[in-house]
Amino acid sequence: MKGVVLMLAGLLVGVAIGALAFSFASKKALPDASPSPAAAPMASEQQVAKSGPAEKPAEVDESKWKELPGFIGPLRPVKAPADNPTTDEKIELGRMLYFDPRLSGNGALSCASCHNPGLGWSDGLAKGIGFQHGELPRSSPTVLNAAYYKSQFWDGREPTLEMQAKGPMTAAKEMNSTAEKVTAVVNSIPKYKEMLTKIYGEANFESVAKAIAAFERIVVDQDSPFDRYVRGDENAIGESAKRGLDIFTVKGKCTSCHNGPNFSDDKFHNIGVGDADRGRIEITKKDEDLKAFRTPTLRNIALTAPYMHDGSQKTLRETIEHYERIPKEKEKHPNLSALMLDFTLTEQEKQDLEAFLHTLTGDKRDPRINVIPDLPPVAPAK
Ligand code: HEC
Ligand code: HEC
Repeated sequence: MKGVVLMLAGLLVGVAIGALAFSFASKKALPDASPSPAAAPMASEQQVAKSGPAEKPAEVDESKWKELPGFIGPLRPVKAPADNPTTDEKIELGRMLYFDPRLSGNGALSCASCHNPGLGWSDGLAKGIGFQHGELPRSSPTVLNAAYYKSQFWDGREPTLEMQAKGPMTAAKEMNSTAEKVTAVVNSIPKYKEMLTKIYGEANFESVAKAIAAFERIVVDQDSPFDRYVRGDENAIGESAKRGLDIFTVKGKCTSCHNGPNFSDDKFHNIGVGDADRGRIEITKKDEDLKAFRTPTLRNIALTAPYMHDGSQKTLRETIEHYERIPKEKEKHPNLSALMLDFTLTEQEKQDLEAFLHTLTGDKRDPRINVIPDLPPVAPAK
């Protein structure tokens, strides 16, 4: 079965043909990922990961690019941190580790259990199922495009993918292992020991997290019908979706928060979802963060129902109606974001907005993310 490439359901419709993702860095100067002034320092151009499809992008006519409110539009290539630049070797290693259940306490759960490529890199559940079938307090977000966030988790408690990856491996409710156990496991598997040592100088918990993060930096989606429309292909999306885009940016002002190329301002807002979960306030201890959660990307949103940090909304229609309803019952939601505006949509407008959200599903991902790796064996007993 070596090297077998699985075309996972719903992914990869047109394999990287004419993929355009690479061209953005050097082309028209779109503003950076988000207009947020709190932008983390970016890595230099030399550290830009080779994260797009391998094929040379087709020429595009930049003069046709549409400038939209909130600078929603094509994504630039992912940038990797200075101490973990992306390489092909790291991607191969990180991919094996991502799919390897031996990193969990009982050998049953891998990252892919809850962030499954066939389920939009999430799990299709309202709340994740963790160690020994226990329910997690929050919904599993997609890993697709997590590389673009300035902080990780619904409450932004970790700044990088490297730091994030350590969390689930050691969390009792998730993979329930320990740093020591993970280090012992990778040292018992000759291929991991050899690759981790060669790449990072040591085979341990730290280097495992780094390799997984390097892999996650190619789990990105940079081309969807919406992107092609922005780049000037008028037929890439339908008339209903075009009207929906207008509602998204003007009447619904969704771009107040879902802005920038990844449709996230990387900030935290209380939009009136959920009850007990206090959100970001647990991290910052600031009143303004009561029930605030990080704005999630809306790319590939049609693939990752149910929605919100608690998985309480089953369909996109429900999320749209949430935004109509909540501002009308403001008094029930202390600390509701002032950006939650009161508007009412007609049935047609709701359909249009939904049609627009569907155009954000990518269809030209890096083919390397669709390879389910063969996992290396442990060393034979002496
Ligand atoms: C048992 C299910 C489960 C497993 C296994 C799991 N995760 Fe997660 N993951 C979650 C949940 C739930 C969250 C959200 C938790 C929160 O925000 O408090 C999350 C959050 C994340 C995020 C943050 C994404 C964002 O939008 O901020 C990333 C990245 C991620 N996980 C990657 C991984 C990696 C890498 C592994 C393997 C080392 C892994 N996960 C294992 C359930 C899981
Ligand atoms: C005030 C900022 C803000 C505005 C305005 C806003 N959103 Fe959101 N959006 C968020 C936050 C924050 C979340 C996550 C909330 C949570 O889980 O508690 C979210 C979640 C979502 C989700 C679910 C994402 C997921 O992965 O579960 C969808 C869909 C969505 N928003 C669509 C929209 C649409 C459509 C509009 C315009 C009508 C809009 N949003 C306006 C901040 C905002």
